[in-house]
Order: sequence, then structure tokens, then C-alpha cells
Amino acid sequence: MTATEDTGTVRFDGKVYVVTGAARGLGAAYARLLASRGASVVMNDLGASMEGSGRDLSAIRAAVDEVTAAGGIAVANGADITSADGPDSIVAAALENFGRLDGVINNAGIITTQDFAALTPEEIQQQLNVHLFGSLAVTRAAWSALTESKGSVVFTTSAGMLGSSFTIAYNIAKASVYGLVRSLATVAEPLGVRVNAVMPGAETRMQGTAVDGRSGTGDAQALLSADNAAPMAAWLVHPDCRVNGQMFTSGRGHVARVIMATGSGYSNRDMSLEGIAGNFDLVSDVSNPTIETTLEDYRTRNFSRWGE
Ligand SMILES: NC(=O)c1ccc[n+]([C@@H]2O[C@H](COP(=O)([O-])OP(=O)(O)OC[C@H]3O[C@@H](n4cnc5c(N)ncnc54)[C@H](O)[C@@H]3O)[C@@H](O)[C@H]2O)c1
Repeated sequence: MTATEDTGTVRFDGKVYVVTGAARGLGAAYARLLASRGASVVMNDLGASMEGSGRDLSAIRAAVDEVTAAGGIAVANGADITSADGPDSIVAAALENFGRLDGVINNAGIITTQDFAALTPEEIQQQLNVHLFGSLAVTRAAWSALTESKGSVVFTTSAGMLGSSFTIAYNIAKASVYGLVRSLATVAEPLGVRVNAVMPGAETRMQGTAVDGRSGTGDAQALLSADNAAPMAAWLVHPDCRVNGQMFTSGRGHVARVIMATGSGYSNRDMSLEGIAGNFDLVSDVSNPTIETTLEDYRTRNFSRWGE
């Protein structure tokens, strides 16, 4: 630990959150942490396989029982976030049980592996349905309640969006989620709502491990646990957190902001093939990058380059 000690003073008393995919893994860890700090939580999960098939509500019931047995406040919701009425039912569970909604952690996810040669549009669509359209639908259903509470949303990306050869459909969907976060944050800003993303890492079912490791022992297992990755997502939905439109890695004892940046580049009013070919080291140089913020800032910088 560095900087600030963990004294358990960051609280969520009186606040209400939705966590999707909360039956196990990261979602269950987010719900446990929020509830342990005073929040009331709607824990959603339809109990699908890792690839997205089947339905088993016993897992979400058990996860909720664990939270309530520890003295926390939580209710179960077994909706499929990709169904027509699922997102509304999740938000209704928050409003009917707790009377308000302060944040949504869009965590539910599935994963499939495939070779690029065998990748089908249907496989990409299946991933988009859960990660992009599902989380978007839950967020839309929650939007008016979040606007009222000046609440926040966390979406879940993956380091897979940086590129890997074996979970391509999943990676595409996760990259699209980042696109959604960037634009939705600009819509949210004037409303006092915040929209951010986590890029988590933990040994869960999705990482091919049977364990759903818990923290508390200080050993290697705890370092890899979902509990270790939970504080970042929880902080992003805390009322004192002010960031908007950003993404943070979280897991294995480390958190950090992920940025989109542009190198200093090569300028030439009369851009030519030869200019690019002959200066490709400058074109590629990222030693002095500019961190991108909004489309507006990007355009202003580019349009003012030649002082016109
Ligand atoms: N574990 C990691 O290292 C890692 C890395 C990067 C990103 N992620 C992302 O974090 C999130 C959680 O991952 P995890 O490792 O805890 O996975 P997990 O498989 O343990 O849990 C995911 C949960 O989402 C639920 N779910 C799936 N589809 C749903 C739907 N349509 N409606 C409602 N619930 C649904 C599943 O039933 C499951 O309980 C996912 O979005 C995943 O892509 C995880």
C-alpha cells in the first residue's frame, strides 16, 4: 500500500446501486464491497454459462444471501440484460425496493474463443448483444433515475480490446464499449451524470480458473482475487469521485488510467507519399504525446495547426 491507508472510511450509506452479472466473479465482489460500505444493491444475473448459454438463478440467490448474511442490503434480479424487458425490471427493482438509484455497474459479460478464419457475424453479434447493447439498454433504463440523483455509470471493457488473436469477437465488443463510454460521457456531463469504464483483471471463471478467489489472506490468491479488482469500480460510482469519460485498469494490486493519445507527428502543408515515407519515424513517434480528451479539442488543435 502507498499514499493513503485503507481505513474503511469511504462509505456509500443511503446510496443505491445496480450491479449486473453479480452472481460470481467481479460482479459479486463489487456488490459485496458496496454493500459492506453501506450501499443497497440490486444484484442482477441470469446465471449463464461463460459462453452465454443457459439460465440458473440459484447462483444470484446464493450471492445475495452471502451479502445479506454479512449484514448488507441487497436484492436479487434474474433478468437477462439483453431481453426486451430485462433492463426495465432491473431499474424497477432499485426504485421499488430502495426508492432511488445512484449508480450502475455494467459488469455482465460472456466470452467465446474462435479463429479469425472461422469467425462468423453471429458470433460478433452475440458479444455485442451482451457487452454493448445489453449494457446500453440497462443504462438507458436507468438514465432518468441517474439524472435525478446525479449518479454514475461504470462500463466494463477488457485488455482484450488492445488486441489478441483468439477472442476476437469479444475484443471487438469491448472496444465498442469504450466508444460508447467516450460519447455517453459528453451527453452525461451537462446533466451532472458521470460515465467511466474499468478494464479489470482477476482470476475468475472467465480467466479459466475454477476459483473465485477472495481477499483477506494477503497471499498470491488474494492478489488475483475479484475482491482485489473491486475498489476501482466502486470508487468510480462514489459521489466524491469526479472523473468522467475515463477508463482505468484494475486488478492484481494495481490500478491506472488508460488513455487515448496522439503523437507529435509530422506536419507538411503539401502532404505527399514521399513526405510520409521519408519521415515515418516522425509520423510514428509517440515520445511526446497529447492525451486526447474530446472531439472538439482534437478538432480545434488540428484546425489551428496552420494558424488559419
Ligand atoms: N476476469 C477478468 O480478468 C476480466 C478481464 C477483463 C474483462 N472482464 C470483464 O469483467 C466482467 C465480469 O467478468 P468475470 O470474470 O467476473 O466473469 P464471470 O463469468 O465470472 O461472471 C459474469 C457474469 O455475468 C453474467 N451474465 C452473462 N450474460 C448475462 C446477461 N445477458 N444478463 C445478466 N447476466 C449475465 C453471468 O451469468 C456471470 O455470472 C465481464 O464483462 C468480463 O468481460 C473480466
